[in-house]
Amino acid sequence: MPIIAPSILAADFLHLAEACELVNDSEADWFHLDVMDGRFVPNISYGMSIIAQLRKAGKKFFDVHLMILEPEKYAEEFKEAGAEGLTVHWEACPNLHRNIQQIKGLGMKAGVAVNPHTPVAFLRDILGDLDLVNIMSVNPGFGGQSFISYSIEKIKQLRKLIDQTGSGTLIEVDGGVGLKNAREIIAAGADVLVAGNAVFASSDPLGTIHQLKYAHL
Ligand code: DX5
Ligand code: ZN
Repeated sequence: MPIIAPSILAADFLHLAEACELVNDSEADWFHLDVMDGRFVPNISYGMSIIAQLRKAGKKFFDVHLMILEPEKYAEEFKEAGAEGLTVHWEACPNLHRNIQQIKGLGMKAGVAVNPHTPVAFLRDILGDLDLVNIMSVNPGFGGQSFISYSIEKIKQLRKLIDQTGSGTLIEVDGGVGLKNAREIIAAGADVLVAGNAVFASSDPLGTIHQLKYAHL
């Protein structure tokens, strides 16, 4: 069964406590929290103080996706804010191995995200150190974009690589994921579906989460 991770970026920011309750009461497994710095990506979202507030209401795993430069400067603060998993971008980290060791040393699960133009083969040597790979299926920075179709091929390639190395790394797919494509994404080998607008812009968010959870059947 896939892990479902609703992205709070698509929630109503005036009612974040309700968004947390909704995820708590749903069949979703994780909270996906998108942090943007206006430098690595052309948008600014929210940071550790909002995550620390959400932590008071959110009862599930906090999967924090850092779309920021120099994430090593802030890893400890995100841990203190309540992050349980921290994902940094391949493109933002010239010393990626060091970032991964830092995240694990702080007691969090370590993830690496790859932009649409970054081949998954670039992760081969570090895969054994990773708890999660986030395959970005849109260009990071905004919710509500369309799924880039060749991401399916990248998921398949990464699935093969992970199965060959036996690393047990989870494959997360992020951007434009919804009821239309969830089944194909899972069939390609994804373990975690991030869904922002598909959940929060739905007239029935709980029902949509349920359908995503069972999309593989
Ligand atoms: C995009 C973020 C995503 C985003 C997904 O930069 O990393 O997590 O919130 O939103 P949807 O599901 O609406 O594409
Ligand atoms: Zn994300």
